[in-house]
Amino acid sequence: MLNAQQGTLDKINIAIDGPAGAGKSTVARQVAKKLSYVYVDTGAMYRAVTWFMMGHGISASDTDRVLGAMKELHIELIPGELTQQVIVNGEDVTSYIRTNEISQHASSYAKIGPLRSVLVDMQRQMAASKGVVMDGRDIGTHVLPQAELKIFLTASVEERAQRRYQEIKDSQQITLEQLMHDIAARDRQDEQREISPLVCAEDAISLDTTSMNIDEVVDQIIDYCITKTDGAK
Ligand code: DC
Repeated sequence: MLNAQQGTLDKINIAIDGPAGAGKSTVARQVAKKLSYVYVDTGAMYRAVTWFMMGHGISASDTDRVLGAMKELHIELIPGELTQQVIVNGEDVTSYIRTNEISQHASSYAKIGPLRSVLVDMQRQMAASKGVVMDGRDIGTHVLPQAELKIFLTASVEERAQRRYQEIKDSQQITLEQLMHDIAARDRQDEQREISPLVCAEDAISLDTTSMNIDEVVDQIIDYCITKTDGAK
């Protein structure tokens, strides 16, 4: 809706879901920047939990210990210009949570229902005042079912592995083939889990980004956003 006095758009919430490596975080961050919205990377929250549990030797199969440890865990997300800072119990873990090892284990912790509930409550609080671009797997279907704009980003497994490879090839020793295998395995875990599986919401707009660049995807989403907010006038 256009605010007549300020000539600005009233704020809405934007949910961006999709599989690993579809470009969600890059796209969501840029959309948030263009709209002066807050970007919330929910995957970082699951990664932060994974980092903490692994650091304390708590396996995802030991649900009681995981849930007990959740009570000792305080996660803060601090929006930044280039990246969102992730703080766990006062420690900046932003770079530690991006390793391939954390990527592989996060799906196992993300399957634990009560753990998800704790994080989902935090995510809903973050979006309560609107003006949030939130990315994840279950944002449009479960976390923010009332989000005014829902986008489901996809790309082929090959393309997603290639993008991830370009990002990490200088810092981590991994082959493109291994990444393709890992991404396909994570897709299966995220799509097949019982609670909040990765699925396109019925009212989401599905965007296949295999042959689109970041700017095209961002511009497309901003267009959808303008249509939505103008439509509400
Ligand atoms: O988007 P990502 O790769 O940073 O996500 C890390 C893990 O967390 C991945 O296994 C999927 C899971 N996740 C989830 O289950 N629900 C979300 N809303 C976000 C991420």
